[in-house]
Amino acid sequence: MRLFPLCIKCRGNETDAPENKTLEDPMPLAPTDQIRSRFPALRRIHGRHPVAYFDGPGGTQVPEQVPAAMAHYLFHSNANAHWAFSTSAETERVRQQAREAMADLLCARAEEIVFGPNMTTLTYQLSRALGREMAPGDQIVVTELDHHANVDPWKALEEERGVTIRTLPLIPETGTLDLERFPELLGPRTRLVALGAASNAIGTLTDVAPLARMAREAGARVFVDAVHLAPHRRIRVGELHCDFLACSPYKFYGPHMGVLWLRGDLLENLDVPKVESAPNQGPERFELGTVNAEGMAGSTAAVDFLAGLAADGGSLGREPHADPSARRALLDAFFTELVPREAALLERLWNGLAAMPGVRLYGPPPGQDRAPTLSFTVDGKSPRDVSSRLAEEQGAFLSHGDFYAATLARRLGLGPDGMVRAGISVYTNAQEVDRVVEGVDIISSRRAGVSG
Ligand SMILES: Cc1ncc(COP(=O)(O)O)c(C=O)c1O
Repeated sequence: MRLFPLCIKCRGNETDAPENKTLEDPMPLAPTDQIRSRFPALRRIHGRHPVAYFDGPGGTQVPEQVPAAMAHYLFHSNANAHWAFSTSAETERVRQQAREAMADLLCARAEEIVFGPNMTTLTYQLSRALGREMAPGDQIVVTELDHHANVDPWKALEEERGVTIRTLPLIPETGTLDLERFPELLGPRTRLVALGAASNAIGTLTDVAPLARMAREAGARVFVDAVHLAPHRRIRVGELHCDFLACSPYKFYGPHMGVLWLRGDLLENLDVPKVESAPNQGPERFELGTVNAEGMAGSTAAVDFLAGLAADGGSLGREPHADPSARRALLDAFFTELVPREAALLERLWNGLAAMPGVRLYGPPPGQDRAPTLSFTVDGKSPRDVSSRLAEEQGAFLSHGDFYAATLARRLGLGPDGMVRAGISVYTNAQEVDRVVEGVDIISSRRAGVSG
């Protein structure tokens, strides 16, 4: 097990730290079986098996403290904000705490964090605001690799504002973007570059920082879709050189919500569509209508859960990490340890499937820096049938389709059912990976006769 030499003292809730222990001491990440014990969904049985959830890229399971935080808010503090009584003040506090938690996750400032129903809604809303500044002939760059939540809101401005869309192509053989083509897409009329940091369909990581720097030097703003990155990598918005970044707490063990980070000055200056009486300062400018405060409470709990996994390998996020400096360091430690753990499982899965004739794997192979999300097809079998049989025969829940990365699916030459996707999450263990390999082996031609 690798250990963490951390450089700050554990402050805030002292009960989080083992006696006489500071974060200068080595801090292991909690073992997977202990992490698993916090997820009630893992006790579900399907057929003969406990369910193995590989559908994390579509939405992860939640640890028990997430719905507990949401229920606590609803039972004890449920109100609307900005009024002169205690539950209203508590609601404002819950909302502020959620901004602080997300700011710790993204290494940002709390006042730059906007919550909304999901990333797609927030991105459409932002495209509307940015579109108000755009004129016919202005250009937006999107990519062929992205989820269409980071394509279609920008494409909508083609029709609405006469904007021209330019597209960075994919190299289908490698599952990566053709980065050499990027500079030629930039020009004096480029207003926005919309990049995905991690592919939810095939796991490709795109190094957005150099692209973002180039785009900003050309005078464009940069939007980063970090929905698939946030569960798997430490995000530091300052290092990405972007202006906007979006992610979704329900992909990292929280409730169904979306989060948008905006660089501070943009928050105040963008001409955002809003109702006249709604606050015109700070992140609330972007939060249309009454926000989901219970979802914000759950989002805080999700971030605290991740930080707690690194606290001492045993606290498992039961206690909130109220001190921002402690929580940020714990999140550093969490992701440092998570990356090799998830990579090892991805490699195990990849190698198991790659050995089977008739199984095609998409995206970068293990060994390259990639998200632990693997998509595949089995010759002669529809992805829907493969997914259904893995569920019925192995209790393994894998999603199938194009995962809204519709252009990518077309460029990969996939049929209407797309591919089957296995997403590794913090609760995935090696036995579950082996069950998927075993299941695909039975389904694929090599052992077709065994299962009939
Ligand atoms: C990479 C990526 N971007 C955007 C989205 C859309 O997120 P949301 O469901 O929060 O709108 C998803 C959802 O699967 C995604 O995986």
